[in-house]
Amino acid sequence: MSQEVKKSGRLIRAPENFLAKDDVKSPALMRRKFLAASVSTAATSMAALGLAASTRSANAAVGAGDPNILNLPAHSTGLGMPVAANPYGMPSQYEKGLQRRESPGLTRVSAASVAFTPLQGTFGIITPSGLHFERHHQGWWDIDPSKHRLMVMGMVKNPKVYTMDDIMRLPSVSRIHFIECGANTAMEWGNVAVPTVQYSHGMISCSEFTGVPLSVLLDDCGIDRKNARFVLAEGADGSSMTRTIPLDRALDDVIVAYGMNGEMLRPENGYPLRLVVPGIQGVSWVKWLRRIEVGDQKWATKDEAIHYIDLMPDGMHRQYTGIQEAKSVITTPSGGQTLLDKGFYNISGLAWSGRGKVKRVDVSVDGGRNWRQARLEGPILTKAFTRFNIDWVWDGSPAVLQSRVQDETGYVQPKINQLRAVRGTRSIYHQNAIQSWKVAENGEVSNVQVY
Ligand code: MTE
Repeated sequence: MSQEVKKSGRLIRAPENFLAKDDVKSPALMRRKFLAASVSTAATSMAALGLAASTRSANAAVGAGDPNILNLPAHSTGLGMPVAANPYGMPSQYEKGLQRRESPGLTRVSAASVAFTPLQGTFGIITPSGLHFERHHQGWWDIDPSKHRLMVMGMVKNPKVYTMDDIMRLPSVSRIHFIECGANTAMEWGNVAVPTVQYSHGMISCSEFTGVPLSVLLDDCGIDRKNARFVLAEGADGSSMTRTIPLDRALDDVIVAYGMNGEMLRPENGYPLRLVVPGIQGVSWVKWLRRIEVGDQKWATKDEAIHYIDLMPDGMHRQYTGIQEAKSVITTPSGGQTLLDKGFYNISGLAWSGRGKVKRVDVSVDGGRNWRQARLEGPILTKAFTRFNIDWVWDGSPAVLQSRVQDETGYVQPKINQLRAVRGTRSIYHQNAIQSWKVAENGEVSNVQVY
């Protein structure tokens, strides 16, 4: 391993970090301080990299005198907190910065808005429930499950009304899937608009959902399989959210879900019942689900006739474009972060496809001229996040980091100019272009578009 690889780089996270506030203020100052202290940090990171014992012992000497080692802290000498002090566990107080956040000025009222998932601070493929993005058209409610009902009607022999208890006694499945709002990355169609990956890509989350396959309920009600073509899903909130779903999809992998990440859905995410429509844009994942109607024609409701349509360059609109095509993004290093020094970095990111599994992810550090294949971390599941990682040694010169996913259908994530050539610049939905992060000489990482 070269000298540079041995010296692990550190990075200021955005917006939360583990560094003292004073140090975060000035990356330049931090850099000077870092030079003095670098060897002790390097020792720890090198152990992680499995480097030579001789190097480690040389560096260990510099750690001598560290008050964090010499002075025994209260937590090593005193009695800790009792069990069940937090009957429902909470993250550490030091993780307070990691929150879903609303983009300032995005909407007029916060009840019809979106709070973005902090992708830069999550690991693996599961989004913690408290960080799952939220998108409401008319606010969220904490609905009493004992009063909630689901009606299944239309082209079925026996229309039925289910209580939550009825539904939770039926055979269930648990599956890990991403949910991405069709408007994720919408602000970047024309130009760079937002600074961090939280705002550029945070209208996406990935969870384990538990519930009853919709096919079980439709069969239970005696669906007219010969003539039925579509189902309509309707939510119980004031937004009259109604979405048409083709019957073949409804009978395939759609779930009427009450569970998320091992517990009941959170109210913001549709408690007590929501539709899970794997691979399809978030709007079809109707929350607070109260009605399923079976029919033989599309309904062309307001959320399919005037919203969630794609404006094409010729002025025409495309309707019913539900599938979220393959997309990927590097989550670290990413916009708003700062690399403090040259050396080793683990480039890490997420890839997904609404058409199945991720097959491969390539990463470029020179704006797309050269690509290297990233490691895909398991499990690689269909219509779910796949985590990728790749080693990188930053030599201190400007770099442009990009990731490009290919899914199991062979589809390759396009460049922004390829997407614009077909879709123009005035669309909102289904922006799945390759994302570029520029690393400047001073280590600051910013959002750029590279053609
Ligand atoms: N369902 C209802 N009933 N009302 C809504 O406002 N928003 C939709 C969808 N389902 C919505 C809804 C949209 S646009 C998205 S992207 C997803 O829910 C967001 O799901 P989440 O809030 O759990 O992230």
